[in-house]
Amino acid sequence: MAHGIFITGTGTEIGKTVIAGGLAAALKQSGTNVGVMKPISAGDTADAQFLKHAAQVDDELSSINPIHLRQPLAPSVAARIENREIDLPGIETTFRALQEKYDFVIVEGVGGIAVPIQDDYLVVHLIHQLRLPILIVAQAGLGTLNHTFLTVAFAQQFGLQIAGIVLNRHTPEAAGLAEATNPVEIEKLTNIPVIGVVPYEKRLDTVYPDPAFLADFMNQHIAWRKLGIL
Ligand SMILES: Nc1ncnc2c1ncn2[C@@H]1O[C@H](COP(=O)(O)OP(=O)(O)OP(=O)(O)O)[C@@H](O)[C@H]1O
Ligand SMILES: [Mg+2]
Repeated sequence: MAHGIFITGTGTEIGKTVIAGGLAAALKQSGTNVGVMKPISAGDTADAQFLKHAAQVDDELSSINPIHLRQPLAPSVAARIENREIDLPGIETTFRALQEKYDFVIVEGVGGIAVPIQDDYLVVHLIHQLRLPILIVAQAGLGTLNHTFLTVAFAQQFGLQIAGIVLNRHTPEAAGLAEATNPVEIEKLTNIPVIGVVPYEKRLDTVYPDPAFLADFMNQHIAWRKLGIL
């Protein structure tokens, strides 16, 4: 079992926080000493607070989310506006401290994997630096074959280990034919296991969902054991 996982996505607002929180709640419920991290936030610190709540940890927000940028922009751009340098070694130090403290650490990325953190340093480089396998969250419906295939190809180009893909329906539209056919097509295209398809659930779309509900709901829809955890 890897000692952590990096939750990335095919884009922003795709469900990374909800799935990362779901995994944290599920691991916690099964008795694992699990920690969470959102290395960089841009705009607000809602993701870090959601993860802290889901994992029920008592870490200071600053050690879950060491870099908080004020503007909701790509980190390199938000940092430039603030005239600020993102402390990459500091992120790694914070992460290694969490790894010491917890048996398993779940790290949520920012946007997708090609998002710039500095002009010549992308999210994919951060994943590489932290030496974590990735879980890709993709949208469940139409358009996801292209986004998922591109994300997988890019990750592989950088030698990342892809543990699995979760398809998530983050909007309340009815599931269509694309959603029904996507899991098989994605596995054929990428050769990576689709470990779950998560339906839209109104009770997830809240600031602090009940961790027990979060765990049960995700366990029902995601086969975590395919990642070699749970
Ligand atoms: N399966 C779902 N059912 C209902 N609502 C969902 C579901 N998945 C995600 N959402 C909602 O959709 C929105 C986006 O999800 P989330 O915040 O997890 O995305 P994200 O990829 O982490 O976004 P960001 O790039 O901003 O970090 C949130 O309001 C969340 O509550
Ligand atoms: Mg998020």
